[in-house]
Amino acid sequence: MKNDDSTVSRGYQSDRVYIFDTTLRDGEQSPGATMTLQEKVRLARQLELLGVDIIEAGFPAASPGDFEAVRAVSKTVTNCQVAGLCRAVAADIDRAWEALKHAANPRIHVFLATSPIHMEHKLRKTPEQVLEMAKTAILHAASLTKNVEFSAEDASRSELPFLAKVVETVIDAGATTVNIPDTVGYIQPEEYGNIIRYLTENVKNINKAVISVHCHDDLGLAVANSLAAVKAGARQIECTINGIGERAGNTAMDEVVMNLNVRHDYYQCSCGIITEQIYPTARTLSHIIGMPIPANKAIVGANAFAHESGIHQDGVLKCRETYEIMDAAAIGKTGNDMVLGKHSGRHAIKAKVEELGYTLNDDQITIVSDAVKKLADIKKEIFSEDVEAIVLEEIFRMPDKFKLKYLQVHAGNGPIPPNASVIMEINGEDKQLHNFGVGPIDAVFNTIGTISGCKPDLEQFSVNAITGGTDAQGEVTVRLRRNNYTAIGRGADPDILVAAGKAYVNALNRLAKKVEENHA
Ligand code: KIV
Ligand code: ZN
Repeated sequence: MKNDDSTVSRGYQSDRVYIFDTTLRDGEQSPGATMTLQEKVRLARQLELLGVDIIEAGFPAASPGDFEAVRAVSKTVTNCQVAGLCRAVAADIDRAWEALKHAANPRIHVFLATSPIHMEHKLRKTPEQVLEMAKTAILHAASLTKNVEFSAEDASRSELPFLAKVVETVIDAGATTVNIPDTVGYIQPEEYGNIIRYLTENVKNINKAVISVHCHDDLGLAVANSLAAVKAGARQIECTINGIGERAGNTAMDEVVMNLNVRHDYYQCSCGIITEQIYPTARTLSHIIGMPIPANKAIVGANAFAHESGIHQDGVLKCRETYEIMDAAAIGKTGNDMVLGKHSGRHAIKAKVEELGYTLNDDQITIVSDAVKKLADIKKEIFSEDVEAIVLEEIFRMPDKFKLKYLQVHAGNGPIPPNASVIMEINGEDKQLHNFGVGPIDAVFNTIGTISGCKPDLEQFSVNAITGGTDAQGEVTVRLRRNNYTAIGRGADPDILVAAGKAYVNALNRLAKKVEENHA
């Protein structure tokens, strides 16, 4: 177990920064980023491999789906703490505990707003009532577990003497972590540092708790603010993979961690993240939610280590450090290297899969090896990205209600309109249809939609080449909406029409799963 109660209570003097990942909770509040239960568990496993200290798995009282996700993650991970969010009311806390109690190291996370604007307009409570509510809630949570976090929502716009009073009260009541969120992404780094410093100087029991920060990126300052807070004494950073989250997102985990690592001389603090798992985790999340990582994103973006200018390329070839402050290998990024081919053995495939950050059993390696060989029949060079696409497609694809068996498309600008012939397996039974469309993609989607009996709205369609070369696999992402539910689907194939068909069917399966989970 990574953090026991003694490390939690060491407080801000320690040089250890705890990484609290909220991808599954705040991150999931990002538009279009909802995940199914299986996907949450899969991501939680990856977060555990990455070495995060705490996984916030959801908000159990918010919905049955969230409750189940927190419960499932609690039962799955053993090496990190699992937190569940709740409002400062007994019913929410009890519900969170019900979901968390199976965890090896559970944490109850209670939040309550402390800013004048939130107290007056949202809570309609006086500061005295808020103080009392916070105290009662933490006492209740602390009667269930010693590991309790309190978040003063909108702390950055709160009056400092009142904030200090709330923090002191909740620590007395049993909070072992006090979070000071910049909920609306408004604060500036120096101001945020000053708030943390003010609390360390004005809350007499502050050394009994870890000070945590939680920043939103509305002004693009979430990472800078989090780091300024660490410099001022905060020792827990709440963050998400790829910075996803409510509105403009949260602090990007990869960025704060690499700042702490690369500039250890400046921060003099360390965290427990296994940096080589940063890139595989970023890719896993991107695949799950179907949200590509922007090419120019710091650390994990495709261009983060690419040198275009001749002068830079020349410098890097002579001495890497001339233009590179970190090594791509440190974040687990392998080059666009030709890795495997038709004659690659099982061992080479297993080694590559492990290098990409996936741990698969023997049967799964066999499935991946067969798929790599099949791909090698039609594609000369197999790159790391191809292998990863196969792993995600063949191993982590959710059990399908709808299966695409065959797809044949007629396209071009001749007299016959574009049309598609599809055979699908639906609940074990083969169904076949031939249909037309305005273009080939429209024909594919029309035909699949008609066979499956679902015609959701197509909200997004994008196609990317996984690697370079005209024989590269195409990776298609679609987002479908049906009433209040949206689902992302992905498919990869050397034929982009087949990739589109796979992506559409994948999204249909996920949509069906979501409706099922929310009506369970
Ligand atoms: O942004 C915020 O204030 C939050 C809290 C619930 C921690 O997400
Ligand atoms: Zn937040």
